[in-house]
Amino acid sequence: MENLPSFNIIIILLFCYVTQSILWQTSAQDLPCRTTCGSIQVKYPFGSGHGCGSPGFHPYIACSPEGDQLLLTTHTGSYPITSISYTTSTFIITPPHMSTCTSMQQSPNLGLDWASPFQLGSSTFLLLLCTPPTSSLNIKGSPVCDTSSYLCASIYTCPSVIGLGLPLFPPTNTCCVYSPANFNSKGELDLQKLNCMGYASVVSLQEHPTDPSQWQYGVELKSRGGALDDYYVDNKCNTCEISGGVCGYAPPVNSFVCVCSDTINTTMDCNTRSLQNQPELAWNSVSLPSRKLWMGFLGGLVFVGAA
Ligand SMILES: *[C@@H]1O[C@H](CO)[C@@H](O)[C@H](O)[C@H]1NC(C)=O
Repeated sequence: MENLPSFNIIIILLFCYVTQSILWQTSAQDLPCRTTCGSIQVKYPFGSGHGCGSPGFHPYIACSPEGDQLLLTTHTGSYPITSISYTTSTFIITPPHMSTCTSMQQSPNLGLDWASPFQLGSSTFLLLLCTPPTSSLNIKGSPVCDTSSYLCASIYTCPSVIGLGLPLFPPTNTCCVYSPANFNSKGELDLQKLNCMGYASVVSLQEHPTDPSQWQYGVELKSRGGALDDYYVDNKCNTCEISGGVCGYAPPVNSFVCVCSDTINTTMDCNTRSLQNQPELAWNSVSLPSRKLWMGFLGGLVFVGAA
């Protein structure tokens, strides 16, 4: 009876050890490069972090530390990426301060970094709460606004215009359809210079051209130069992805690597390397924790026996 307390302690220690080993094993199975971030599928040239995807996309694109949002970060802020089209090399960001039909607000400038491989795609900007009349709004003498468009009249039917301090159904001469939009020399949509307080950006009218509550809001961006990266890397990466790996790059020269597991990177693909020496590595990485676990268990038994 008197050795019961020490037996309890051993059971507790053993339990802690087993729990820790299981946790260790689970986290070891996560790839250093993620294939999804939130609801977004992350594939080359996009990457979830340093060493993943294309080196040109880092540090602009990364998965948030919480792992729930793929973010584009520029000198003006961080913007959630809401969709990626790998076939057209385009993606859509939804800046948190952008106005939509359900919520209108003043916005800071939106900008892209010149050094980043991204440029504006084909979304239509609606500049809001500008100094009237917007028909005379110009950049170096050229008119900025498409005054023939009905989009301003449509978006000003959204009740959320009161969020900008406008009355319901405001006059449309404070709104401007700016398309194609140009960013200034700092790479920004310069709202201050244009004397506007906010903007909405529309990716698609979704077959409801006069119903702004049905439009798809967001800023479409495309990868500069059309094709996402060079043909050679594209080809290698394709093979890597088909074999279950994630494309990445490694120092010192950011050369291509195929990330197959947390312990295995190859310059080829995951199948090719498994023909060489994966069984041995896989045995080591899997057996190590379970071997430790068994030794801990046996040690515990010996201890109990001795006590
Ligand atoms: C494999 O590559 C990824 C991405 O570059 C890196 O994070 C990871 O540390 C590398 N793993 C090994 C074992 O070299």
